[in-house]
Amino acid sequence: MHVLALVTQKGGSGKSTLAVALAVAAMRDGERVALIEADVQGTVSRWQERRDNPYPRVERVAEPADIDAVLARLAAEGIWLAIIDTAATNNVLALRAIATADLCLIPARPSPADIEAAIPTLLAIRRQKRRFAFVLNQTPPRGVRLSEAATSLNALGVLALPFIGQRNDHQDALGTGLAVTEYARGGKAAEEVHALWSWVAKKLAEEAFGHDQAAIKKAS
Ligand SMILES: Nc1ncnc2c1ncn2[C@@H]1O[C@H](COP(=O)(O)OP(=O)(O)O)[C@@H](O)[C@H]1O
Ligand SMILES: [Mg+2]
Repeated sequence: MHVLALVTQKGGSGKSTLAVALAVAAMRDGERVALIEADVQGTVSRWQERRDNPYPRVERVAEPADIDAVLARLAAEGIWLAIIDTAATNNVLALRAIATADLCLIPARPSPADIEAAIPTLLAIRRQKRRFAFVLNQTPPRGVRLSEAATSLNALGVLALPFIGQRNDHQDALGTGLAVTEYARGGKAAEEVHALWSWVAKKLAEEAFGHDQAAIKKAS
């Protein structure tokens, strides 16, 4: 089972929006997916309550140890991907989510201040030696700032692609219990989310391949 965590101490950056969007995009690819909500705000579970489709299922956790317990249960049940949505405020839960993740995604608006605001999260990720990538979210249709922010992250090799634009479809979908790819199938927002999921899926596959290589090396 792969574990993806959406993390950053900066609130309103798009953690919950992207957790939901990526979960449903992965599901459409035929994968068995579960969402883990490590946030008392309950954005994801309220989204799920508005939803007719019982999938993806949502597991709520309140304690760091719950994350491990839920992950073990999901893996035993044959879930292929667990996506953990975290809170801006509960550092202990977020740290546990980071520690269990194969890949941490850090959503940030494309301004220097917003990217800087993710630095404490980034340091925690590096301390735990996890893989990570920034996702530039709510990007304006055009703007100089975008290219500056993108260039510096890209130069560090830690930028997920494509950027996710600022579009009403994201907000409207969340409000109706749908993922953006269900809400406006042919829309630009849906297209970006599918492309982002492809990027993430590739990274997860590389990660799994890395483990295999390490195991082969160790065994030989
Ligand atoms: N790409 C986007 N375009 C438009 N609105 C967005 C986008 N991403 C997030 N939002 C909106 O921004 C707000 C904060 O997003 P949310 O996912 O709840 O952030 P977080 O979970 O990091 O606090 C929500 O109202 C959400 O609908
Ligand atoms: Mg949230």
